[in-house]
Amino acid sequence: MTIDRGRLKNLLAAEQERFDTAHPRSRALFERAKKSLLGGVPMNWMVRWAGTFPIFVREAAGAHFTDVDGHRYLDLCLGDTGAMTGHAPAASVEAIAAQARRGITFMLPTEDAVWVGEELARRFGLPYWQTTLTATDANRFVIRLARHVTKRPKILVFNWCYHGTVDETFATVRGGAVVARDGNLGPPVDPAVTTRVIEFNDVSALEAALSHGDVACVLAEPVMTNIGIVHPEPGFHDALRKATRRAGTLLVIDETHTICSGPGGYTRAHGLEPDILTIGKPLAGGVPAAVYGLSAEVAERIRAATTVEGADTGGIGGTLAGNALSLAAMRATLEKVLTKEAYARTIPLAERFVAGVEAVIAEHRLPWHVTRLGCRAEYWFRASPPKNGAEAAAAIDPDLDRYMHLAALNRGILMTPFHNMALVAPDTTEADIDLHTRVFRESVAAILGS
Ligand SMILES: Cc1ncc(COP(=O)(O)O)c(C=O)c1O
Repeated sequence: MTIDRGRLKNLLAAEQERFDTAHPRSRALFERAKKSLLGGVPMNWMVRWAGTFPIFVREAAGAHFTDVDGHRYLDLCLGDTGAMTGHAPAASVEAIAAQARRGITFMLPTEDAVWVGEELARRFGLPYWQTTLTATDANRFVIRLARHVTKRPKILVFNWCYHGTVDETFATVRGGAVVARDGNLGPPVDPAVTTRVIEFNDVSALEAALSHGDVACVLAEPVMTNIGIVHPEPGFHDALRKATRRAGTLLVIDETHTICSGPGGYTRAHGLEPDILTIGKPLAGGVPAAVYGLSAEVAERIRAATTVEGADTGGIGGTLAGNALSLAAMRATLEKVLTKEAYARTIPLAERFVAGVEAVIAEHRLPWHVTRLGCRAEYWFRASPPKNGAEAAAAIDPDLDRYMHLAALNRGILMTPFHNMALVAPDTTEADIDLHTRVFRESVAAILGS
């Protein structure tokens, strides 16, 4: 099946016009914002939405939000996992409001910190925990710690990974060499100095990359989620764990997105044994909070290799990290929102999403596929699931992507930007999922002219 690109271009132009006409208030706010905010947005990613300008949010609850023009949307983006709990989950909001009245940040612990540490240990199986404000920070700090305790200079990541704005990870392989990812702004050093990059699921490349004895840690999502969803092949995690142990390299598992697998992430669901685990985004119901967990052995090595005097200059910081508000929010969210019962609702809904999309793909014999991980699902423009980041990246189709996103947005559905991804919140309903299937079917029919 080939897509008529001229037709797609016309469809996109029509959707663009429809979008512009429907959002006069967002457009006016964007025009005003351009005078005080770089690019008209408070944060640079917000220019990457499919419309000519971002829609401005008025309010949100559960799986829906309303924009300043009064349109109501089904949110399948959910703040790119930051709001996987649904928007404004009641238990988190109550705890946040109560803690805000009692004080927000002290640079001293509160009792909630202890509860959170105990709960994280129970969920993920690692005994010692630290808090940061973002998953990016968690990843940055554990890379430092891994280098410090192993006395090795390099880290290893998988091609097309994303772990936040972490310098060492903005690397890719081109012609066999490690180079900066396109768009990498002002890299402090050539990433080839700091980083080895191999393809996901390639055990022999892994063994070769670790054989030099200079890799402090492997930093990996257990399932890649930032270049579509790329699942590990059977036996890959076993091989990864064995190879890292053999090489004296620490294994860091980043569960920031894969927490969609279940309450203890992919790690607990699949019995992984990382030395270090990082996670951020939805942990505090949308309030900035992230954590990293350490095995007893790594914790002991850190204790032995650090001093109290150096604690404020060691490169691990954040004045607001561990603040009372984040911890109260994390406690309430872990106790009452990101529960086993919530996953029991959201995972079947993601299965329903996949069944709907799969049916449309089959009806039209499209060379596309849809993959799921827990309550996250994503369709991708290639016939079979990719084995690694390079295969997935080769199937990116920016025009098709833009059209699918904009057509969905104009029909009341927000998909995750830079992805064709849907995340399901506890408040999402079967009717919501069926709305997506209907809109997906209509969009495909429009592309094919059928
Ligand atoms: C797997 C993973 N780790 C870490 C991060 C960084 O999260 P944050 O931007 O909240 O620091 C992201 C962000 O998308 C991510 O996908």
